[in-house]
Amino acid sequence: MKKKDQAFELRNLKRKIAGGIKTYTVASGKGGVGKTSLSVNLALALGSMGIRTIVLDGDLGLANVDVMFGMYPKYHLGHVISGEKKLSEILVSVQENVYILPGGTGLQDMADLDMTKQVKLIEEFSSLEEYGNVLLIDTGAGIHRSIVVFAIASDSLILVTSPDPTAIRDCYGLLKAVSLSAAASPEVYLIINMAKSNKEALEIASRLQYTARDFLDINLNMAGYILRDPHVEEAVKIGIPFIIADPNCEASKCVIQIARKIFNLENEEGIEEVPTGRGIKAFCMRLLRQLQLR
Ligand SMILES: Nc1ncnc2c1ncn2[C@@H]1O[C@H](COP(=O)(O)OP(=O)(O)O)[C@@H](O)[C@H]1O
Ligand SMILES: [Mg+2]
Repeated sequence: MKKKDQAFELRNLKRKIAGGIKTYTVASGKGGVGKTSLSVNLALALGSMGIRTIVLDGDLGLANVDVMFGMYPKYHLGHVISGEKKLSEILVSVQENVYILPGGTGLQDMADLDMTKQVKLIEEFSSLEEYGNVLLIDTGAGIHRSIVVFAIASDSLILVTSPDPTAIRDCYGLLKAVSLSAAASPEVYLIINMAKSNKEALEIASRLQYTARDFLDINLNMAGYILRDPHVEEAVKIGIPFIIADPNCEASKCVIQIARKIFNLENEEGIEEVPTGRGIKAFCMRLLRQLQLR
């Protein structure tokens, strides 16, 4: 075994002992800013870099992660919660290292289950540890309680906004709602999507960073930007994510930069460190606690 492989294996072992999957909630406030587009293409970028990634379609109204792939899975989390299916039976493999977990309805149902059923469900969810290092939770629009709940329960929050002033305002509104409910200051990344230029993205980011620091005492980590790119819409029309359909388009290059930044993959040689979070069990428990507070 090469020295680098050995080091990698050692880190993986440490991860097994110390923690588990790292969970990221992708949220925005306003709809249509590119959360689903980012979640799907970021997952594919991470998968090709060797980081096993699961995308949970948590947009409870619209199951739109599927649409990006032009597929319509029959089963979703609701079937797992009702006990009809196992998690492994509803996970859809879309590329090496990348899975989609169709959300459907049923989040609130989870909170209403009795304790024995909740424990069983958490056990079932723990099987996700076998499939992923990273869980990306794609959420719906609005500042609904369920989105704040996901944000608080996960290890990290990825905030997405477009340059549109109402999107920026709603993005800040969501961050404020999260900061008011969270016990500790959360890890938050910011992504500006559909930017006209690097300059525009950086200006918006620095304004948001300044406001978040001054008014909410939150450190917003700028994770990057995605340029407005017609290849994105074209890819949606053919049901193939842009990073596969056009790996060299501007949007794809931007997503790869973001993947490197958030996951500390600054060199081209591959993974420096497998992302490690608090694990799926801890995530589920925090999620249930928050849901019961409603
Ligand atoms: N960087 C981009 N350039 C051009 N169009 C984009 C870009 N990002 C997203 N879009 C388009 O914007 C629309 C909304 O994106 P979507 O990911 O569904 O947003 P959300 O999940 O936040 O509602 C889609 O039609 C998508 O193709
Ligand atoms: Mg969406």
